[in-house]
Amino acid sequence: MITLDNLRKDFGAFTAVDGISLEVGAGETVVLLGTSGCGKTTTLRMINRLIRPTAGIVRVEGRDIAAEDPVQLRRKIGYMIQGIGLFPHRTVEENILTVPRLLGWSQPRSRDRIAELCGIMNLEAGLLPRYPHELSGGQLQRVGLARALAADPPIVLMDEPFGALDPITRQQVRREFRRIESLVSKTIVLVTHDIAEAVELGDRICLMSQGRIEQVGPAAELLFRPRTDFVRGFFAFGRLQTEWMALKLVDLPAAAALAPALSAQTTVADALAQLEQSDRAAFLGVMAAFFAQKQVLASDHGDPV
Ligand SMILES: Nc1ncnc2c1ncn2[C@@H]1O[C@H](COP(=O)(O)OP(=O)(O)OP(=O)(O)O)[C@@H](O)[C@H]1O
Ligand SMILES: [Mg+2]
Repeated sequence: MITLDNLRKDFGAFTAVDGISLEVGAGETVVLLGTSGCGKTTTLRMINRLIRPTAGIVRVEGRDIAAEDPVQLRRKIGYMIQGIGLFPHRTVEENILTVPRLLGWSQPRSRDRIAELCGIMNLEAGLLPRYPHELSGGQLQRVGLARALAADPPIVLMDEPFGALDPITRQQVRREFRRIESLVSKTIVLVTHDIAEAVELGDRICLMSQGRIEQVGPAAELLFRPRTDFVRGFFAFGRLQTEWMALKLVDLPAAAALAPALSAQTTVADALAQLEQSDRAAFLGVMAAFFAQKQVLASDHGDPV
């Protein structure tokens, strides 16, 4: 769906993005992860042509976007900018309808879509005439997402979509996000510097450093088979927490046996949260044994899972 071919962006003498090549399949969610200033936003903005690359090509559905009509591109790509970025002097409704207006949708069609989006995003209709400063962080986040989805684009780009939220709301909104049906079929590129978020939401993670890709693959691959010291170090922090989100019960039969009521696709983190207090100790015991064994295997460069 999206192909980045040796993409590069220089700002004067400084190279912000230094030869990124990446393919994102239809319906896939790829997370661009990395520390501040590593080039995530710049990469994302080149995908929808808000920034022109110094070199390299971006293809969407096989077509070079440099040659594509900008309005056609907006129809295909929804964009949620860093900090949500709603227009402060426009109402919630006007904000959500930004792209439909650009595309010249009729009033009735826009009205129907607004009603539909309010349902999908769990937004009360009473919020529509308000201005962004009159909303909570979680509501703003949902409006930002509604705006990105308004014209039902097959591709959605999101830059730190949960960045403005406090940690507790952030976790709740992230959980809701995973349940939004209409996002399941979309091709999503999501930027974050939060490891847990990347593991939870990404089909694959693209870990960046200084404008380059360090490693790209499923979360478990980066966590357990880091290709460079940078990758290993990046994940060292908060490691246990993220491993619990990367692993599913299906990967750990001994743990799954202790939680027979849960689906095999439940993550270990979710399973732990759902178990009765009395079952937790045994579950944690199994996990501890697993991680102890994994440490040994990992140091032998074996396959821990
Ligand atoms: N218009 C610009 N002119 C000059 N330098 C820029 C410009 N935009 C970005 N940069 C620089 O390019 C580098 C990458 O910026 P970018 O915004 O892509 O980082 P990021 O990975 O999104 O960081 P963060 O996590 O803080 O949002 C940074 O060093 C930044 O200062
Ligand atoms: Mg950024």
